[in-house]
Amino acid sequence: MMKIPFVDLQSQLKPIRNQINEGINGVLDKCNFILGDDVKKFEDSFAKYCGAKYAIGISSGLDAIHLAMRALEIGEGDEVITQANTFIATALGITMAGAKPVLVDANESNFLMNVEQIEKAITPKTKAIMPVHLYGRMTDMTPIMKLAKKHDLHVVEDAAQSHGAQLFGARAGSVGAMGCFSFYPGKNLGCYGDGGMVVTNDPQLKDKVEALRNYGSIKKYHHPIVGFNNRLDTMQAAILNVKLPHLDAYNSARFEAAIKYNKALEGIGDLVLPEIPEKKSHVFHLYVLKTKKRDQLLEFLNNQGVQAGIHYPIPVHMHGAYAHLGYKTGSFPVSEKMASEILSLPMFPELNDVQIDYVKQKVKEFFSK
Ligand SMILES: Cc1ncc(COP(=O)(O)O)c(C=O)c1O
Repeated sequence: MMKIPFVDLQSQLKPIRNQINEGINGVLDKCNFILGDDVKKFEDSFAKYCGAKYAIGISSGLDAIHLAMRALEIGEGDEVITQANTFIATALGITMAGAKPVLVDANESNFLMNVEQIEKAITPKTKAIMPVHLYGRMTDMTPIMKLAKKHDLHVVEDAAQSHGAQLFGARAGSVGAMGCFSFYPGKNLGCYGDGGMVVTNDPQLKDKVEALRNYGSIKKYHHPIVGFNNRLDTMQAAILNVKLPHLDAYNSARFEAAIKYNKALEGIGDLVLPEIPEKKSHVFHLYVLKTKKRDQLLEFLNNQGVQAGIHYPIPVHMHGAYAHLGYKTGSFPVSEKMASEILSLPMFPELNDVQIDYVKQKVKEFFSK
């Protein structure tokens, strides 16, 4: 039996291991573990890569969202509109700032935020809209930016799954007031621990986030504002400096793998395969299909050595953590239906034809039973 991991970090490490060792040794040589040169170097390269003026290295994607909220002075009594079908951290970042996440549903076709529901969700307390470029596909920011302008709201992009995705010439994270990234190891650009980034074009927001991540200080032992300890590690930045030049190639390989999956799986059972939009607008962090037999297929694949998963099995409003928001079953029917039908197949840049063929054989076998 073949074993196909959900993400193969070993294969990705192999060809760059020497450079990674050099990067880590460079930090050890200098012992500049906190906000060392590698952090600044990575911030500059990542800002450039995103087509943004500034990037501020943060300890995780969740912390990036939290600090983005704080930098915009969003807190107690404020509301931020985001989507019900996302990883819990999108909402938690809002909650950590003291604000309330207000949810809208997803589009059935592409899993992204249903923009048509945003206006109805706006109240006098609304301060921002946070679309999530879910699974690596960039949301069309044009109607969101228009709505935000009309209602005088901020836009913060949750770009944790979409490093390098671009639409209409702009990269994910560079369109709103701020873009928040995660470098969790399995992400399209991942480090070897936790890491995150806030990207912005606004010099004041940049200064604010820089202070917030470092105890509220820019100058040592001067604390004009209350802050946190949320800095990106120098060691992680050194690793990311080695990996960033490979990101476009990683993303291309993911896109090609998604095309191959779609060709291989077309017409099997009741599978609804993901849309493949214009190249580069989707960086396939995850390859997510739908089937009414999701639970059985998941179990079958896992028993056959194919590590598949669900992203995510429970929409935000159905978690105990958000019971107090007062939503109920049926509040977001698309997200709820998705949660019971979606299945993520193994997806990583090194996924090869033999592995894709094995997955196809196993999926076929399941539906011919
Ligand atoms: C959509 C989304 N938002 C936020 C996060 C939080 O990032 P982190 O795990 O680095 O805290 C993640 C990833 O885990 C994510 O997928």
